[in-house]
Amino acid sequence: MSDTTTKFKNPRAAHQFVGRTCSIEAVGSYVPERIVTNADLEKMVETTNEWIVTRTGIEQRRVAAKEEYTSDIAAKAARIALERANISAEQVDLIIVATITPDMPFPSTACLVQQKIGAFRAAAFDIEAACSGFIFALEIGQQFIMSRTYNTVLVIGAEKLSSIINWEDRNTCVLFGDGAGAAVLQNRPNTHGLLTACMGSDGTRAELLAMPGGGSRCPATAESVANKMHFLRMDGKETFKNAVNAMMTAAKEALKRCELDITQIKCIIPHQANRRIIDAVAERLDAKPEQVFVNLHKYGNTSAASVAIALDEAVQSGRIQRGDLILLVVFGAGLTWGAAVIEW
Ligand code: ACO
Repeated sequence: MSDTTTKFKNPRAAHQFVGRTCSIEAVGSYVPERIVTNADLEKMVETTNEWIVTRTGIEQRRVAAKEEYTSDIAAKAARIALERANISAEQVDLIIVATITPDMPFPSTACLVQQKIGAFRAAAFDIEAACSGFIFALEIGQQFIMSRTYNTVLVIGAEKLSSIINWEDRNTCVLFGDGAGAAVLQNRPNTHGLLTACMGSDGTRAELLAMPGGGSRCPATAESVANKMHFLRMDGKETFKNAVNAMMTAAKEALKRCELDITQIKCIIPHQANRRIIDAVAERLDAKPEQVFVNLHKYGNTSAASVAIALDEAVQSGRIQRGDLILLVVFGAGLTWGAAVIEW
């Protein structure tokens, strides 16, 4: 037997599980060119660079051009990931896009990405788990690889949050940005790959973070537009508290399932929403600062794209090498949360 059975516990090996393992073969990311700094926001709403940096850690964010849509941003990240994996678009069996800012309610953004990258053999669909979307999509993609249904799955987290931000609301407009990250999933023999992914949801707190308009409950009308129902709304304080607890719990559960200690994790990639949330979660996990990857100062909160972009930057910068154990941990609207342990 290969050493995959002995290196550490893979919870998926329990119950005589005989599915294939699923690895991330390559990642890629893309952020729009335009940078909006805190100084720019000072001219738009009553805020200061000092407030934004001390309360969130964010210094700037990317904002897509008017005619650059979520599917364009997603397709750019996808092409980079496919090229790095040395896989052609025709080889892709399935595309999953996690987003809360689809190009339109339907068809799915995944179908638009399929057309843009020329992955004509692939099935394609979107999933929606807000900022937790990338881990949820990874887990779904992995199920298809493990079950031998598909060989190559392209998972993308992509957002054009600037399209649902009320740029007059200082409580939210300083927090978010646009971007995309993509991962190519395949079976790589002799590695555990994605060891486990814990996912959680709590619909009783759906109102904490939502965009009320545009769905069947509140279709677009002149009144809904006037009442700003088509913008993201958030109870920041409550969201903050829930985020810290849920991320900590999910991370601990993921580590426990794999019988791993936090010291064995090379790199922790948390959802990049707020530096204070990241620090609080790291402290509760007894993680060392050097284990934690942070890039939110450059991009703000890019929701489903957040950990995907961070993962790509961690890999490209050499922070993660093949064989390293990494921990992704996320939190978002729904509420939703999750954590994944990956043998890179
Ligand atoms: N500039 C200046 N002052 C501001 C700004 C701003 N941009 N925004 C808010 N304030 C003010 C508020 O009005 C408030 O003033 P008041 O006391 O006079 O009412 C004051 O600052 C303090 O506001 P708080 O809400 O207490 O600020 P807090 O320290 O909680 O930080 C923040 C707010 C940054 C939103 C924080 O609560 C947070 O990060 N929450 C979590 C967000 C998150 O994790 N989202 C994840 C999921 S996102 C998704 O799924 C799409």
